[in-house]
This record gives sequence, structure tokens and C-alpha cells, in this order.
Amino acid sequence: MGALPRHIGISMDGNGRWAKLRNKKRSYGHKAGSENVQKIAEHAFSRGVEIVTLYAFSSENWARPKEEVEELMHLLGDYLKKLAAKAVKNGIKINVLGNKARLSAKLNKIIAEQTAKTSGGTRVLNILIDYGGRGEIVRALNALKESGEAVTEESIRQNLYTAGMPDPDLIIRTGGEIRLSNFLLYQAAYAELYFTDVLWPDFDEAEFDKALENYASRERRYGKIEC
Ligand code: IPE
Ligand code: IPE
Ligand code: MG
Repeated sequence: MGALPRHIGISMDGNGRWAKLRNKKRSYGHKAGSENVQKIAEHAFSRGVEIVTLYAFSSENWARPKEEVEELMHLLGDYLKKLAAKAVKNGIKINVLGNKARLSAKLNKIIAEQTAKTSGGTRVLNILIDYGGRGEIVRALNALKESGEAVTEESIRQNLYTAGMPDPDLIIRTGGEIRLSNFLLYQAAYAELYFTDVLWPDFDEAEFDKALENYASRERRYGKIEC
């Protein structure tokens, strides 16, 4: 086995199409997708990955029909409770990252309680909710403006939601679209990108391992001409 990514980002796309293929409502796909989160996160950690960052709800996803947004918010609270219970046992620290001000007080309470339980974990599971990469960069720059600290690549990095974490080595997007959709824009500068047509609810351990194998075959040059 070649190199193993320390940090993997996953854009979990394709729930709606997965449901449509089964003549079901989109919410059916979101439910199936949420049930896949724990399986894949645990599998990633079992392979030795240290940090998993999951894109669960973008700042642009608020533009979806109100009913779908409400269902997603409800589901997020629900699966966070299940995830946290398991995470405590498995030594996984859960962080919910994003603009939490726009979430309901109820969901914020669930997030605070559930993530606090997991604070002793050593592997890290970041769940991005109401997250956008551009918004994250603007937020970092505003923090620097307020503190008066000089704007440098490092000071911006220290003011991102992922402050203190290594950049993602590998970014996976399921669901067939070849785009980032505002995911980890600053952090992805030198990430290896892996796109698969597999829809998120169907993305299983074997598919995850394919992404790892593919990553292991890449030569990361960082602008140089040899490793
Ligand atoms: C990903 O699945 C989940 C979210 C973006 C919240 P989608 O809901 O985008 O599913 P598709 O892309 O429409 O199939
Ligand atoms: C990206 O999926 C965001 C998440 C996976 C949460 P979208 O379905 O929102 O992205 P677009 O609209 O296809 O770019
Ligand atoms: Mg989508």
C-alpha cells in the first residue's frame, strides 16, 4: 500500500438522484445518505485516516424548497445524536463547522450537547453544516481585520474553521459532478481530487478503498519536478 491520506474531505452528493431512481421522494435519499455517514467515517478511521471532513449542508443549500431544508435540518440533528453516541465509544471527536448562527436554536443546542460529549476523541470527524468555502475565507479575513494581525497565508489558515488541522490530502466527491461547489476552497490548494459517479447512499467501504488506492498511486509534486 502506498501513501495514506491523513485528512480526507468528502462531498456527499447524490442523495436526491438515488431516491429518484427508486421513485421515492428526495427525503428518502437523504435518510439513506445519513445512514451511510457512520459506516464510511468508521471505515476511514479503521484504515488509519486521522481526520474526515464531511460536506453535509452548504450555504447555498438554503435555496432549496423549505420542506427539503426542514427535513435536512431534522435529519442532521437526529444523526448527530446517533453518531455522537458511537463516537464516544470509538474515540472520535466530532466538530460541527459552519455558520451556526443561521441554524435553529434547537439544532444548535443538539450540536453543542452532542459535540461536547465527544471532546476527548483522538480521531476527528468534521461535519460541515451551513458551510461555504468563500464565506469561510471572508470570515477569516474579517477576524484578521478586527485583530489587526497581518494577512498572511498562515494567519488566514489559523482563522479558518479547520484551524490547527492539516489540509485535506484527498477530496472525494460522490454523485458524478466534477466540481467543488464551495467545499474547502482554501484548504484544497494541493489536495488530490477523486470524483466518482457512485451516489452517496451507495458509496460503501469497497468504493472508499478504491479512492484510497487511487490516491496511493498519485505523485504529489507541489510544483516541483520530482517527489
Ligand atoms: C447531497 O445530495 C446532500 C445535500 C446537498 C444536502 P443532493 O440532495 O444534492 O442529491 P442530488 O445531487 O440532487 O442527487
Ligand atoms: C454539494 O452538493 C454540497 C453538499 C454535498 C452538501 P450540491 O448538490 O449542493 O452541489 P451542486 O448544486 O450540484 O453544485
Ligand atoms: Mg447534489
